[in-house]
Amino acid sequence: MNRLKGRRALVTGAASGIGRGTALRLAEEGAAVFCADIAAEGAQDTAKQITAAGGTAESGAVDVADASSCAAGVAAAVDAFGGLDTLANVAGILRPGHTLEQDPDVWHATIGINLTGTFQMCRAALPHFVDREDAPTGGCAIVNIASAAALQGVPYNAAYCASKAGVVGLTRSLASEYARRGVRVNAICPGGISTPMTAAGFPVDGIDPALFARITPQMPMVGEPADIAALVAYLASDEARYMTGSALTIDGGQLA
Ligand SMILES: NC(=O)c1ccc[n+]([C@@H]2O[C@H](COP(=O)([O-])OP(=O)(O)OC[C@H]3O[C@@H](n4cnc5c(N)ncnc54)[C@H](O)[C@@H]3O)[C@@H](O)[C@H]2O)c1
Repeated sequence: MNRLKGRRALVTGAASGIGRGTALRLAEEGAAVFCADIAAEGAQDTAKQITAAGGTAESGAVDVADASSCAAGVAAAVDAFGGLDTLANVAGILRPGHTLEQDPDVWHATIGINLTGTFQMCRAALPHFVDREDAPTGGCAIVNIASAAALQGVPYNAAYCASKAGVVGLTRSLASEYARRGVRVNAICPGGISTPMTAAGFPVDGIDPALFARITPQMPMVGEPADIAALVAYLASDEARYMTGSALTIDGGQLA
């Protein structure tokens, strides 16, 4: 499929997991992709994989928790490709723990990266998206990776759940504000996906296993980054031209 031919995309969290899968998929569909991550080497590796496959990619170190770093990342992408049409906010952290024992720094870091980071990237990219006469026919697109944890309480993850619920609220607010100005904003709410984030399992002592029954997929498998990347590519494409403000679950039936 070549649905994104001629598009210029920036993907955060592109060094690993869902972000890397997204960068590779957008490039496969024809987009030039700026791979951004706080892990600069990993982002560069992803860009190399894209160019080795014949695609167009650049990479850069971006800390989404830092507004000036977000602005610099967007400027670098615009410089590299002559503009920007798509933003995929994938960067995020998960720091589980008993709420009563958790260091307040974990709360601030989680909100700072997952929620404020998503806002800061949107804030930096939006001036390149709004009111464009040369916008793609389906509009410019922002795709925010939230989580099933935005829609369902996940024990031992208060900050994570709050941050991801915030991402859904942010998505809907931006979608309503910019729908008439040529920008679509959607969120994806994945359930468990096999990535380095989840490979560590759940390193918290003294958890109640019964609580985890609630957050188990119904399907007898674990999702892969490619499952999420396929939905990002669709939402970025003109096929999704009538979709904005949505929060789409892709969770093996966790919330069914
Ligand atoms: N894996 C899952 O089961 C799952 C489920 C739902 C939602 N998500 C969300 O999907 C996104 C990607 O997760 P993943 O599973 O691929 O994790 P991952 O750990 O494999 O990748 C996360 C990436 O984000 C980057 N990152 C972290 N802090 C950053 C910062 N301050 N600035 C820029 N980059 C930063 C990391 O370096 C890493 O490359 C996250 O937002 C996560 O919350 C994951």
